[in-house]
Amino acid sequence: MKFSVPIFDVKNLNFRVGDQEILKDISFQIFNGEYVAIIGPNGGGKTTLVRMLLGLSKPTSAEIRIYGKKLSRFKEWSKIGYVPQRASHVDANFPATVEDIVEMGRVSKRAFFSTLSKEDKAIVHDAMLTMDVVDLKDKMIGTLSGGQRQRVMIARALASKPEILILDEPNTGVDMASQKRFYSLLSKLNKEENITIVFITHDVGVIADDIGRLFTINQKATICNNPKEALSCEEMSELYGIEAHLIHNHKHEH
Ligand SMILES: Nc1ncnc2c1ncn2[C@@H]1O[C@H](COP(=O)(O)OP(=O)(O)O)[C@@H](O)[C@H]1O
Ligand SMILES: [Mg+2]
Repeated sequence: MKFSVPIFDVKNLNFRVGDQEILKDISFQIFNGEYVAIIGPNGGGKTTLVRMLLGLSKPTSAEIRIYGKKLSRFKEWSKIGYVPQRASHVDANFPATVEDIVEMGRVSKRAFFSTLSKEDKAIVHDAMLTMDVVDLKDKMIGTLSGGQRQRVMIARALASKPEILILDEPNTGVDMASQKRFYSLLSKLNKEENITIVFITHDVGVIADDIGRLFTINQKATICNNPKEALSCEEMSELYGIEAHLIHNHKHEH
């Protein structure tokens, strides 16, 4: 794997606002097929970093390549599915069904104002099937539970047939049972469909068995190639404010 062109290749990324250093000298690569979890304290810069990878925010300095191309020249954005933080917080009266929302994932793929082709419809159906929301397709999005909405948002991202899925804390406010189901769906996407996953989360304990590498972002990046070691490391807890012992206990529950 390491000999292929990385999906993301980030070198010396820095972001300053006034005299505040928000991200400092961050370098990493993400390869096809990986499952990377990103953890770190609130305000540590995780969302900012991910937005920079997608060209949505500009770093003060950095060299970012996507599939070997400079970010400014990269055009194949549909290869990348992004579920932003709070994506599933929608107004209770938002006038769209689950199917409407998932169909939005096809919009960038077709001509403006044209209707969905048979193939588009099939892809939308597949995405709903994968995320287990077919039964909900005619329901209004605002009437769903947090866990159901979370799955709909991922289905929408999957409808664009991404090679990589970037999820920014999609699990806040979702109950434990839904979480576990969600994590096993993610793991399946990674293992069976070879979708690369970058998952920003607070709940690393539960997915420690699935993930390959763990990035901790707190102004700087610490990259662990073995998540299980990292989780039981006291220094990690002291340095980054992550309650490693809690995560550790969590793991012993099952
Ligand atoms: N454009 C900006 N101007 C000023 N401050 C910013 C800007 N972008 C991000 N920040 C600051 O960077 C810090 C990191 O935020 P964020 O990336 O949301 O952290 P996380 O996602 O890890 O909780 C916060 O203190 C935020 O206020
Ligand atoms: Mg964030």
